Amino acid sequence: MSWWEDEFLQVKQNKLYLGNLLAEQLAKRYGTPLYVYSLKKVSANFKKLRQVFEPPPPGIEVKIAYALKANSHPAFLKTLFKEGASIDAVSPAEVEKAIKAGFPQDRIIFTGTSLSQEDFELILAYPAVTVNIDAFEQIDLLEAARKRRRIKSPVRVSVRWNPGLGRGFSSKTITAGERSSDGTPIKFGVEDSRILETFEKLRALNLLPVGLHQHLGSGWAEEDFPIAVKAVDRMIKKARELKRADFNLEFLDFGGGFGPKYHPDQRLFPLAEYAAYIIDKVENSRLGLKAIIVEPGKYLVAEAGVLLVRVEYLKKNYGHLFACVNAGTYNTVPRAVIYEEAYHEIVNASQVDSPRKNKITVAGHLCETGDVFGVERLLPCPERGQILAVLMAGAYCRSMASNFNLRDIPQEILLGSL
Ligand SMILES: Cc1ncc(COP(=O)(O)O)c(C=O)c1O
Repeated sequence: MSWWEDEFLQVKQNKLYLGNLLAEQLAKRYGTPLYVYSLKKVSANFKKLRQVFEPPPPGIEVKIAYALKANSHPAFLKTLFKEGASIDAVSPAEVEKAIKAGFPQDRIIFTGTSLSQEDFELILAYPAVTVNIDAFEQIDLLEAARKRRRIKSPVRVSVRWNPGLGRGFSSKTITAGERSSDGTPIKFGVEDSRILETFEKLRALNLLPVGLHQHLGSGWAEEDFPIAVKAVDRMIKKARELKRADFNLEFLDFGGGFGPKYHPDQRLFPLAEYAAYIIDKVENSRLGLKAIIVEPGKYLVAEAGVLLVRVEYLKKNYGHLFACVNAGTYNTVPRAVIYEEAYHEIVNASQVDSPRKNKITVAGHLCETGDVFGVERLLPCPERGQILAVLMAGAYCRSMASNFNLRDIPQEILLGSL
């Protein structure tokens, strides 16, 4: 059995099945390239995550706020709404999308960076959304937007702080600390020395400080656990300091970042231990919290999507073997090229377990050398017309896809029912 087989992806008689449907038949019926999504998988992942946070500390709700930037397909949103999710949105359009999918305003937390007053005005069309500010300097813009909107009731505000520690699978997805692993200064969050001043300023205005938030980065694996729990300790300590200054927070939001398994050798982030750690620390903190929030994106949806592409021909060049497919990475699985570290398993859906004699580079149809889905992969050598499946295409694929080279973004189909 392959490491990626589960209730969504199965192999029968050497063929790949997606939710019990033959991948080749789906490709034939709907055309390729094609995103195939499993709503059942989204639900199952949500339930799994909810379970690791059970039982929550007495009197405290654990809210799982889906980071909808990962994939905003309305069916994913509706599925997660039914499961009881909240939403982490990062733009006015994402807030609107969540509202359209049925999420009440008070189940949405908005975290934006480099925002304008106009952005805040758009957000305040939904005044019960919690606004999570990312800079001291955003406060005046938010206050101006509140006045412009003539909102009299206090706006619920939390503060994204930068705890000075960050972790992520790529330098581009480390979102806390002073600098990322490649030296880029990190733009997110309010630095530690300005947290109190930020809360004081909120209190002085008609803005109601209700929470403290951090997001260390995206794509954690096992080795990220020590930093993740250190950041939990820092968060609790910071909340205590705030309590001493008479800020009684409703919630602590620990952000997202839990990585699902992209690579066979990846050692998974110990989510159950992490959840137990948070619960224990919060329970013993006597902070009087009403909620703990986590904001998973890829954990919930990455495994729920597959991209099907068709092999047009095999090409040999200077001894390298290329499977040339009818899709481009930027239009389908852009994270494969945006992040040097990203890996997407590729399966020959037409002959999954046939002998793997050749190293094959799976090349897309865009005019760029980097447009490859996988480099020198040991795959059963595909024939013309066979279907390859690019796995883990449910998160940050469709949502990051562009029309580069004026190629279309693929159709998305759903398996399972709402
Ligand atoms: C503020 C915030 N929360 C949550 C997430 C979700 O991260 P992930 O998909 O790694 O869980 C992100 C991703 O960039 C984010 O910026």
